[in-house]
Amino acid sequence: MTSESPRLRSVVRGLGAYLPERTVTNADLEKMVETSDEWIVQRTGIRERHFAADGETTSMLGERAARAALADAGLEPGDIDLIIVGTSTPDYTFPSVATQIQAALGITAGVAFDLQAVCSGFVFAVATADKFLTSGSHKRALVIGAETFSRLLDWNDRTTCVLFGDGAGAIVLEAQPGGGTIADRGVLSSHLRSDGRHRAKLYVDGGVSTTRTVGHLRMEGKEVFRHAVGMVTDVIKDAFAATGTSGDDLDWFVPHQANRRIIDASAEKLNIAPQKVVTTVHRHGNTSAASIPLALSVARDDGRIKPGDLVMIEAMGGGFTWGSALIRW
Ligand code: UT7
Repeated sequence: MTSESPRLRSVVRGLGAYLPERTVTNADLEKMVETSDEWIVQRTGIRERHFAADGETTSMLGERAARAALADAGLEPGDIDLIIVGTSTPDYTFPSVATQIQAALGITAGVAFDLQAVCSGFVFAVATADKFLTSGSHKRALVIGAETFSRLLDWNDRTTCVLFGDGAGAIVLEAQPGGGTIADRGVLSSHLRSDGRHRAKLYVDGGVSTTRTVGHLRMEGKEVFRHAVGMVTDVIKDAFAATGTSGDDLDWFVPHQANRRIIDASAEKLNIAPQKVVTTVHRHGNTSAASIPLALSVARDDGRIKPGDLVMIEAMGGGFTWGSALIRW
């Protein structure tokens, strides 16, 4: 709940994103699997996605996004004492992507770790960083979503291989004093959920402790779709209840970008006007934990998201995991 006494807030100081150079259109995919631009656009809204080049890893994408966010914030790497990377596609089983980015940025103070919540990774990472910053234990966090989902795809499974892309996005959160009301800038609420009973509906069929391989992404798309709208609307209603807000109060709704139909159905159920919905799935595909900071970046850079705006982020993904965070920009 939001108290009305002075307290620390995690305020967004900077934002950055990075997309690999290579763009793969639906027409390109038509040459690789039995699919059509018409089917992909109609069922998902996706028109193109980016794929990392050979040798281009998740930590490299994340580092580019992190450097852009630091430049945007006007900060140096040494100003950061917490790095959290939401990812399910790490360069190595260990060490974490976060410690590799920490080293690449030349940071030796503070702490860096990965957080694995699949497509909900960025929302989970924002909520986790917020707990660190508002407790007073850390001052400035790099929160990164970075993925190379192209490396998990089974090119014999057209029901999944057309859906995903690679990319990274990052924000810098800084602990600043606030008044304890929803007029404060920063993270105003976060609500995270998970239910492991749904494992088989969206998973990777390999892993260190099972097959000793990386494996491929498997999804019962219809089942995931069926749960997605209800789950995300639940955690957004939790955010509204905790902050005394409604869909009318939002300036921008920046959902995880998996499927245009899920985004539209969620917005409609929550009475969020279509012009407030930020959609990038047509250009990025589903980039898992990277999709929200990539979308934030597009909407901030084109002048939509401005300081003081009320922004709702939400995601749902494998596990299942799902969550929302309400942020005053
Ligand atoms: O980020 C984590 C969360 N993930 C999601 O949110 C994904 C949720 N699910 C979805 O987005 C949708 O369920 C999909 C886009 C994956 C699939 O859409 P759908 O409307 O549920 O289609 P479907 O799976 O029911 O398939 C319909 C038809 C099938 O043919 P029949 O059985 O009706 O003859 C499929 O074989 O479409 C066929 N199909 C394809 N056709 C052309 C499936 N994939 C393709 C394809 N190209 N790539």
